Amino acid sequence: MRFNEPLRERVCAGLQGRVVEIGFGSGLNVPFYPEQVDKVSAVEPADLGWKLAGHRVAESKVPIERAGLDGQSLPFPDNSFDSALSTWTMCTIPDVASALSEVRRVLTPGGTLHFIEHGLAPDRSVQVWQNRLNPLQKAICGGCHLNRNIPALLTTAGFEFRDLDAFYSEDTPRLFAAQNLGVAVAP
Ligand SMILES: C[S@@+](CC[C@H](N)C(=O)[O-])C[C@H]1O[C@@H](n2cnc3c(N)ncnc32)[C@H](O)[C@@H]1O
Repeated sequence: MRFNEPLRERVCAGLQGRVVEIGFGSGLNVPFYPEQVDKVSAVEPADLGWKLAGHRVAESKVPIERAGLDGQSLPFPDNSFDSALSTWTMCTIPDVASALSEVRRVLTPGGTLHFIEHGLAPDRSVQVWQNRLNPLQKAICGGCHLNRNIPALLTTAGFEFRDLDAFYSEDTPRLFAAQNLGVAVAP
């Protein structure tokens, strides 16, 4: 499984219209944007990520622009987007609650946030180690948290789930393997 391609294809299904992708990284989701997407506004602070994305952006059938640098403060008016996308980004954004509030603000009512994120495991025995090792993970992995409760963060931000699939990735240490994949709807 190269760069989780089957999961990227799954999470991108149903994106449509104007899309904002937070934590665009090196653009690994670009090949999976459906043809119903009109335009993608990429939000990515790392110049290196945007540089590495260059060939994917250039080859994309969907127009993509780097439109923002920080998911915590989006430079878009309210109700600007039909869909939003976040893949393995909510672990890293320092104030993820603010970022989700911003995503909700810029989505139209009924707009959808498509996400796959690793986070807090369902098993207590795994949680104990996630909590214990979280400071080390943050220090050596660019601020990535092991133990964020993704469904709770989305609910607190006011989203309602259309789909939510929680599972452990295969062939991944359990510390990082608890995934939440789904579609959350902005009220
Ligand atoms: C683990 S990488 C995931 C990248 C990409 N979404 C993917 O699936 O390959 C986390 C990404 O979040 C980005 N990020 C960190 N802080 C951010 C912020 N405040 N706003 C938006 N993105 C941020 C990082 O630069 C990085 O590209």
